[in-house]
Amino acid sequence: MSSEARKILVTSALPYANGPIHIGHLVEYIQTDIWARFQRMQGNECIYVCADDAHGTPIMLRAQAEGITPEELITRVKQEHERDFAGFHVGFDNFHSTHSEENRYYATLIYQRLKEGGHIAVRTIEQAYDPEAKMFLPDRFIKGECPNCGAKDQYGDNCEVCGATYDPTELKNPYSVVSGATPVLRESEQYFFKVGDFADMLKQWTRAGHIQPEIANKMDEWLEEGLRDWDISRNAPYWGFEIPDAPGKYFYVWMDAPIGYLASFRNWCDRTGHDFDEYWKADSETELYHFIGKDIARFHTLFFPAMLHGAGFRRPTAVWCHGFLTVDGQKMSKSRGTFISAKTYLEHLNPEYLRYYYAAKLGPGIEDIDLSLEDFQARVNSDLVGKVVNIASRCAGFIVKKFGGRLSAEWPQDDLHRAGIDTAARVAEAYEKREYGKAMREIMALADRLNQYIDEQQPWVRIKDESQQASVQDTCSIGLNGFRQLVILLKPVLPRLAAEAEAFLKLPEQQWRDLETPLLDHEINKFKPLMTRIERERIDAMIEASKEANAQEPKAASPASDEPGPDADIEPIADEIRFEDFARLDLRVARIVKAEAVEKADKLLRLTLDVGLEQRNVFAGIKSAYRPEDLEGRLTVMVANLAPRKMRFGLSEGMVLAAGPGGKDIYLLSPDEGATPGMRVK
Ligand code: 2FM
Ligand code: ZN
Repeated sequence: MSSEARKILVTSALPYANGPIHIGHLVEYIQTDIWARFQRMQGNECIYVCADDAHGTPIMLRAQAEGITPEELITRVKQEHERDFAGFHVGFDNFHSTHSEENRYYATLIYQRLKEGGHIAVRTIEQAYDPEAKMFLPDRFIKGECPNCGAKDQYGDNCEVCGATYDPTELKNPYSVVSGATPVLRESEQYFFKVGDFADMLKQWTRAGHIQPEIANKMDEWLEEGLRDWDISRNAPYWGFEIPDAPGKYFYVWMDAPIGYLASFRNWCDRTGHDFDEYWKADSETELYHFIGKDIARFHTLFFPAMLHGAGFRRPTAVWCHGFLTVDGQKMSKSRGTFISAKTYLEHLNPEYLRYYYAAKLGPGIEDIDLSLEDFQARVNSDLVGKVVNIASRCAGFIVKKFGGRLSAEWPQDDLHRAGIDTAARVAEAYEKREYGKAMREIMALADRLNQYIDEQQPWVRIKDESQQASVQDTCSIGLNGFRQLVILLKPVLPRLAAEAEAFLKLPEQQWRDLETPLLDHEINKFKPLMTRIERERIDAMIEASKEANAQEPKAASPASDEPGPDADIEPIADEIRFEDFARLDLRVARIVKAEAVEKADKLLRLTLDVGLEQRNVFAGIKSAYRPEDLEGRLTVMVANLAPRKMRFGLSEGMVLAAGPGGKDIYLLSPDEGATPGMRVK
């Protein structure tokens, strides 16, 4: 490492220890891993740590449902996570757990320092309590009727139908998702972090280049509203760390989760003899980057920096958010088989296909990225197999068979090699800025040039002519040197292919700068195919296997997260009704002729529905799951005789039918082909 080597610590968000890693998670781990590998290849110190997020109510309930202890659950899941990450070549320096002594230590320390600084308030508040399950209920564990529009089965924090946000205590006819019992209000003392004490610091920090502008704008909304005290405690029974001076109170999972970054790094330092403080002291000169999904920005760009600052630690150099994954333009779906676990993927396909595809699609922004299965197959086959690996397979045979496996001793010409070096400079800049799509385009342009060169030189023709044979060695040496440059450029994305190419080229582990020096008079091995084409059957088999795996999976006993989020497919069946009641519903096939976002409504889309004889205006709380343009032209089912409801944004004349708990997990019902607008659904 040179003396100017940067010292960098990177993290990815900590996955919850109650579910498998899936291809949606992998966007982030692959994005981070590419960046960390790139930094190391540059000669920088780059430590990549992560951990399981092992606390909270959902994990407690999940363990209960499985009849095991939370410790047993998180131990098992951690092994599964580590297996899956290794399968995708995600090379953490350390993968730890928030249920660890290091995390208890830092959570306690940060809490105590915040308290000493006067940033912890203790107040008695009323919260929903499940008298049957004998526990306080997080907002996500209470459902009921929206106080604003009366929609049934809405979560305790916001209405998916009309977009209203409210307190769980305002829900009508609330019920506990855990037991079905009616929650009662119960008073208890809670501990709050006065994050508003840091408002000035945060206003400045969020505008100082540490976060993406799109995220800064979003955070501005919170900052402008005024930061309310954040409840960091939970009552027993709770699965987490007991607050030291508050028996029966536990740190809320979101309080100790980001502290898990410190804990995992500490664990790594203790194992390897590194200095924790060098990285985390307030005036640290090292760099710290958190890669996260845009859904958890508030915790990472407001609460966490405030906690760190208040407790005398450094703040992140940057927090980088990415968007969500869609598959074939839609959110991952269990029934369509596109909710693909890492394990299922690995049983069917090479992990580097996905690493490459994500890299080709990733940019520095927060837009969602789409895994189009057809494009995935086409792009991997054309770029990696058809362009990159093909260069080696076109050149290696002649070198091995005709020239004793040796490359030319003198460098025949410089143009292409120079082009490789110039490309490398642009690619390095793109990797650094997380513009991976741009980096891949640059690399493939270089591969195109090399293939074109080989096409022009026609070594397979010249080899037959005695007088030209010697120059074929030069052509193939240029080709293989170009191949080596491509492999070095792709190595952050394709570490396995790079290792195999290094073995083929008889090279030690390559660093970035190695691409500047050509291989001359150098012996290589016989070529073996380094990557095979993706066949469509393998993708189809993976989709089928995912359908099966998801069908077999036991229903989750509770939401996976305490926060508003996508998982909660556990809804008790409603009370019985008579046939006459059902028959009063007039359900119709409707065509969505127009769909548009509603200004100032986070969740709503305004739909214009063609129901045969007339058109209806309907507001639907499905914005989190669909882009308006994807809906236009599509058939769905609506309740046509629902009394019109006046909403803030206009009159809603009916309701479209959709399944799922909300967020990204909303599935609009569609009739089979052949149905036409206006048909009655019976
Ligand atoms: O949203 C999630 O999946 C959380 N488990 C992420 C935690 S990241 C960090 F704060 F620990
Ligand atoms: Zn509502």
